[in-house]
Amino acid sequence: MTTTLITGGTVVSATGRAAADVLVDGETIRAVLEPGAALLGTDVAASVDRVIDATGKYVIPGGIDAHTHMQLPFGGTEASDTFETGTRAAAWGGTTSIIDFAVQTYGQRIEDGLAAWHEKAAGNCAIDYGFHQIVGDVNEASLATLRRLPDEGITSFKMFMAYPGVFYSDDAQILKAMQVSRDTGMLTMMHAENGPAIDVLATQLVEQGRTDPFYHGVARAWEMEEEATHRAIMLAKLTAAPLYIVHVSAKQAVEQLAWARDKGQNVYGETCPQYLYLSLEDQLGAKGEQWGSFEGAKWVCSTPLRSREEGHQDSMWQALRTNDLQMVSTDHCPFCMKDQKELGLGDFRKIPNGIGSIEHRMDLMYQGVVTGEITLERWVELTSTTPARMFGLYGTKGVIQPGADADIVVYDPNGHTSIGLEKTHHMNMDYSAWEGYEIDGHVDTVLSRGKVIVDGDQYLGAKGDGRFLKRGLSQYLI
Ligand code: URP
Ligand code: ZN
Ligand code: ZN
Repeated sequence: MTTTLITGGTVVSATGRAAADVLVDGETIRAVLEPGAALLGTDVAASVDRVIDATGKYVIPGGIDAHTHMQLPFGGTEASDTFETGTRAAAWGGTTSIIDFAVQTYGQRIEDGLAAWHEKAAGNCAIDYGFHQIVGDVNEASLATLRRLPDEGITSFKMFMAYPGVFYSDDAQILKAMQVSRDTGMLTMMHAENGPAIDVLATQLVEQGRTDPFYHGVARAWEMEEEATHRAIMLAKLTAAPLYIVHVSAKQAVEQLAWARDKGQNVYGETCPQYLYLSLEDQLGAKGEQWGSFEGAKWVCSTPLRSREEGHQDSMWQALRTNDLQMVSTDHCPFCMKDQKELGLGDFRKIPNGIGSIEHRMDLMYQGVVTGEITLERWVELTSTTPARMFGLYGTKGVIQPGADADIVVYDPNGHTSIGLEKTHHMNMDYSAWEGYEIDGHVDTVLSRGKVIVDGDQYLGAKGDGRFLKRGLSQYLI
């Protein structure tokens, strides 16, 4: 077993920071020591196999991205990152665990959808991975199966109030699934947008000749997110189910969450980097030479990017500070422009929805520290510690403490990261939604269960290094 000492750095947790050395023994953290301390009378640095010098750098628990879609069949195509390419890109960006969504499609058994997801991931991941379950067909059999999933380490499921004819569930189906959530303690995750109403608006826009990507954001108005968020909250209240709203982008949806939380309801929410930095006007507005007004397809995702003039982005940052939103995931769902986003040329409804960010989440959120939006500790909390607690991984993940998995990132605040074109990222995409973003900071070294998988500009990981994470119930609920 290899022993490693990470020395000279500042260890940052969700609650504080301190100069400390971290001793790693095999796959786990053995001790967090005063700088230069001896252990059982031995000079630690002299006795370990490897020393990582973290002088002037932050030592943080590895990022946990709790919302990814590798190889998701969607919008007439399939998300372009495999578990192999997507988890490798994650590692490059300082993320050491993901929770992906296993899919049950309409007419399929949950068991079969889940087995297919295990097959896609097993032996292919560079980092540890867990699953949520997408419930795409609520019936007696699927509800019975859902009840048994915690035994398999799957303790959360996602439902969709959007995408009629694809993943959509109506209120009656949602109510029934939430009753399972109440009985089992599983977290109900909700895509909260009023899909049937959105589809009417989208069709009307296309009939008026408004076919550009920009109209994706127009059809998916914030009222549709606010309404669905409220409805989900009320259904959860009625059934006493714990609820987690995914990819929140509208400030009015945050107000709904804050309202319910102030009443003591077990309701939580995440946002994503795209809803903090990008906007309807800047990204989906008609611009660009190469694709004409179709360039906006790069940023078509759901919930959609929102208007900056209306202040949604500022409201997301504020909610992250006040804990009205508890964490930041990517909703990584990458598609290439060529042959994929292009499916929607002439009709925005056919553009596969999704943005790829798995590689950039830690950097983009660190930029929030640099600009004063969040503290250093909150950065760690939003990207690692709360995801671990929310989804039943805390203790082994999300923290640097003896006994935890040695998932550790050495982050250099004096480094620099230019996020750029296809050639400079590792995600399987022919463009970057983040092109031109400059980050004051850099992921230096990444350890996944004690193994150095990223060392400067060298990738040392391998497919199959990552293990399936059997998760417990949420450790965050009140
Ligand atoms: O645009 C998105 N978010 N695509 C992925 C599917 C989903 O709704 O999360
Ligand atoms: Zn969704
Ligand atoms: Zn998603």
